[in-house]
Amino acid sequence: MSDLQAILQEATATLAATTTVPHLEQTKARFLGKSGSLTEQLKALGKLPPDEKKTAGAAINEVKNQVEALINAAKARILNVELEAKLSAEAIDITLPGRTSGTGGLHPVSRSLERIEALFATMGFSVVDGPEIETDFYNFTALNTPENHPARSMHDTFYIEGSKNLLRTHTSPVQIRHMLGNKPPIRIICPGRVYRCDHDATHSPMFHQLEGLWIDQGISLADLKGTLTQFLNAYFERDNMHIRFRPSFFPFVEPGVEFDMEWENKGGKIKWLEIGGAGILHPAVLKNGGIDPEKYSGFAFGMGLDRLAMLKYGVNDLRLFFDNDIKFLSQFR
Ligand code: FA5
Repeated sequence: MSDLQAILQEATATLAATTTVPHLEQTKARFLGKSGSLTEQLKALGKLPPDEKKTAGAAINEVKNQVEALINAAKARILNVELEAKLSAEAIDITLPGRTSGTGGLHPVSRSLERIEALFATMGFSVVDGPEIETDFYNFTALNTPENHPARSMHDTFYIEGSKNLLRTHTSPVQIRHMLGNKPPIRIICPGRVYRCDHDATHSPMFHQLEGLWIDQGISLADLKGTLTQFLNAYFERDNMHIRFRPSFFPFVEPGVEFDMEWENKGGKIKWLEIGGAGILHPAVLKNGGIDPEKYSGFAFGMGLDRLAMLKYGVNDLRLFFDNDIKFLSQFR
């Protein structure tokens, strides 16, 4: 067998066994590279007598073309196999159920608030907002709680350095803001975030309150009791809620009360939880709000919104509302 035929046979066998692109490149170099066997044959042409050069050259080129064709075919085969492997590795299971984008829901406290606003609307209350960064004046002084008043110590909060501003400790400052811009009759609720230095199962450093204010001629403690009792019965969908009013002190009301609600814990034990403070507006507060206390009277209350949500949904630790745990929150969707 001539050298050329042997080269062609070797190339055919090697290329048939070649399965990767790097191996194919090596094989190509072995036959067609700088010192490949076919290249060597071409180099040797120069030593042949002129009359043999032509036929020998044609024969070498013929084999070279065949080897090149074999290389191209092997390359196409290898790339095809690689593509098939890639496609099957990346195959998509079209029978799998699709991924849905989870639907969000209202936070239980927001859900409670929406309901509470709707219930108070049926009693003629409109909703008013106030700033969360308050001045010392609206948060304390105008509410009959001047500097150094001992009642301030119960409202330890976050003060803004270098100013008389603070994160409001209750929603009561909205009372004064609203009185200064409006004339009686006034019937509003003011929900919002408030801040205190508190942290336990029924206290959080940021929590929500709902202020209520009703000013008109002849408003009395009986109106306060009636409004709160009617609201709590409607909110808890009961008609015989046990609500307890206890005498209490807030500088901005006289008389002042705290009100508690009866609830049953998991062990079936009856307990009381304080929901809010309230009372008849102190004449000094009406005056600070530009309202004549000789002509008008009013009541105000401040309830813990989170506590109302806790009791409504049977949550035993208020801090769960603010942990941002999706598992907990999705129960209320
Ligand atoms: C006040 O904040 C008064 N401004 C309420 C008021 C308004 C009295 C109008 C008279 C007239 P008190 O500090 O008690 O009161 O808070 C009211 C309610 O907020 C509490 O009964 C409780 O339900 C809730 N509360 C208080 N501190 C926290 C806290 N750290 N976390 C969650 N809820 C709280």
